[in-house]
Amino acid sequence: MAPLVIITGTGTDVGKTHVACALLRAWGTRSLVVGFKPVETGVGPGPRDAERLASASTFHVKPQTQTFDAPLAPPLAAQLEGREVDVPLILRTAATLREGAGGVVIELAGGLFSPLATDTLNADIVRQLRPTTTLLVAPDRLGVLHDLAATTRAAAHEGVALFGIILNAPGVNDRSTGTNSREARRVTRLPILASLPRAPENVLASALTALLSTVLRAG
Ligand SMILES: Nc1ncnc2c1ncn2[C@@H]1O[C@H](COP(=O)(O)OP(=O)(O)OP(=O)(O)O)[C@@H](O)[C@H]1O
Ligand SMILES: [Mg+2]
Repeated sequence: MAPLVIITGTGTDVGKTHVACALLRAWGTRSLVVGFKPVETGVGPGPRDAERLASASTFHVKPQTQTFDAPLAPPLAAQLEGREVDVPLILRTAATLREGAGGVVIELAGGLFSPLATDTLNADIVRQLRPTTTLLVAPDRLGVLHDLAATTRAAAHEGVALFGIILNAPGVNDRSTGTNSREARRVTRLPILASLPRAPENVLASALTALLSTVLRAG
């Protein structure tokens, strides 16, 4: 079975897709890799995460993303359409991808403790997916220390193993940007695997190449 890297975050809009695409571009130079976004809500006319992940993939299958129109948490957006998020489908799709591809990157919607389906949080499916590695993306801005402390403590409590943290430069810097890394290490006791600047995916891919080797060796 191919390695599976899960990209989760401290919340929405923190750079999960950007990091996942950069990682796919780094990994894709040596393996046939595929990105998978199991559930996507608020699907508007712009490029969706699933399409961005597909562009960064080198194993060209089209994994089934469950999409819902309303920009709400998945169970609520699904409910508005009289539907439910199909969790077993996500597990089956992930297993099929791991059989066929050389590597799989899954981006979860929202943060690690965002609801995925009725009575299921993202953290629950991370455990069920049995990933090789789970990476936590967090924005390098004021407030991140709380979000990291809360998320990593909850993850430990729930038995979700996090390999480390990727700090990602925010769209707009604040006074804390660039200062959070050391304290983040202290409050989480997890490694800060990278502090990424604002840059295109292919530039960040080179920054993530060494990290990828560490991640895969650890798995
Ligand atoms: N390091 C970066 N350099 C340049 N642009 C970035 C970087 N990180 C994020 N972005 C851009 O910021 C926006 C939000 O990032 P992204 O879509 O990756 O967040 P997300 O956590 O996946 O959001 P969502 O919760 O909606 O899935 C995107 O337009 C993305 O391309
Ligand atoms: Mg995204």
